[in-house]
Amino acid sequence: MEIRGRKTLVTGAASGIGRATAVAMAERGARLFITDINGPGLEETRRRIEETGGEVCLARALDISDYEAVKGLAEEVHSRFGPLDILANVAGVALFSQVEDTTHEQWERVVNVNLWGPYHTIECFVPEMVRAGRGGHIVNVSSAAGVIGLPWHMVYAGTKHALVGTSEVLRFDLRKHGIGVSVILPGAVNTGIIDTVEINADPRACERGRDLFRRHADPPEKVAGLIIRSIEKNRFKVFTSPDVWMLYLLKRVFPPGYVLAMRFMTWCLDRFLTRGGHATKA
Ligand SMILES: NC(=O)c1ccc[n+]([C@@H]2O[C@H](COP(=O)([O-])OP(=O)(O)OC[C@H]3O[C@@H](n4cnc5c(N)ncnc54)[C@H](O)[C@@H]3O)[C@@H](O)[C@H]2O)c1
Repeated sequence: MEIRGRKTLVTGAASGIGRATAVAMAERGARLFITDINGPGLEETRRRIEETGGEVCLARALDISDYEAVKGLAEEVHSRFGPLDILANVAGVALFSQVEDTTHEQWERVVNVNLWGPYHTIECFVPEMVRAGRGGHIVNVSSAAGVIGLPWHMVYAGTKHALVGTSEVLRFDLRKHGIGVSVILPGAVNTGIIDTVEINADPRACERGRDLFRRHADPPEKVAGLIIRSIEKNRFKVFTSPDVWMLYLLKRVFPPGYVLAMRFMTWCLDRFLTRGGHATKA
């Protein structure tokens, strides 16, 4: 679908992929509604959009896991501006942990933000899009961990797999309403999440791991470009890096090879994260 003039909500817009997506959408003429729990970061995104002549209809700091807050935002958007055309669920948090080290608070936080967050926006915004009968598009940012059993991602992968499942059903359910659905499956992206990710492991390994991740990560602008293309071309599953796509393909076409690859990856990460970041040294 054409992006120009479309009313577009982007969650997680204060940083990383969400900010890059909001800025890129505004550059293409979308009318932006942006939200994030980080108020100052959100204002910075608004400033960047407006500086280049883009339009921010509304910027609202809220916790996406708080249903009443999202419902309040939806009521305000619908009464002042009418139904959305595009909904982009980007906000998320990450956690690297083994099951025996994961606290209940961590289980809850990851599920509340990564799963209840997009469920809240889908519940509060999509029915109005359907009733409006004007079509539209939904983008759900999942992860490589949404299609692959990445080691140390137990809770995170659960939420991201669930988002892929929900996206797949919505893709077919909403087709009759002219609403497209894309699910984005990024590999490593150089964003704020590298600093905020909780890692229940050796602190020296965490620092080395963050550096390593950063060096191999794509810029968020690349992912934003792919998100825009997924809306314009109505693409469903969108991989942002060839390594993830190849692992996914291996899982589909040669499961025994995938099992070996994942066992090896798990062995490497176990050693890396429990030995101060020296995966290959004894
Ligand atoms: N960076 C990566 O390598 C990577 C890889 C795969 C998937 N992803 C996914 O991409 C999405 C965007 O992450 P990013 O990499 O841009 O990280 P980021 O930390 O730069 O951005 C995430 C944003 O979500 C916001 N957020 C966190 N909790 C929130 C809450 N309770 N309510 C509202 N907003 C909240 C943060 O304030 C932040 O601005 C996430 O869903 C993440 O899981 C990222």
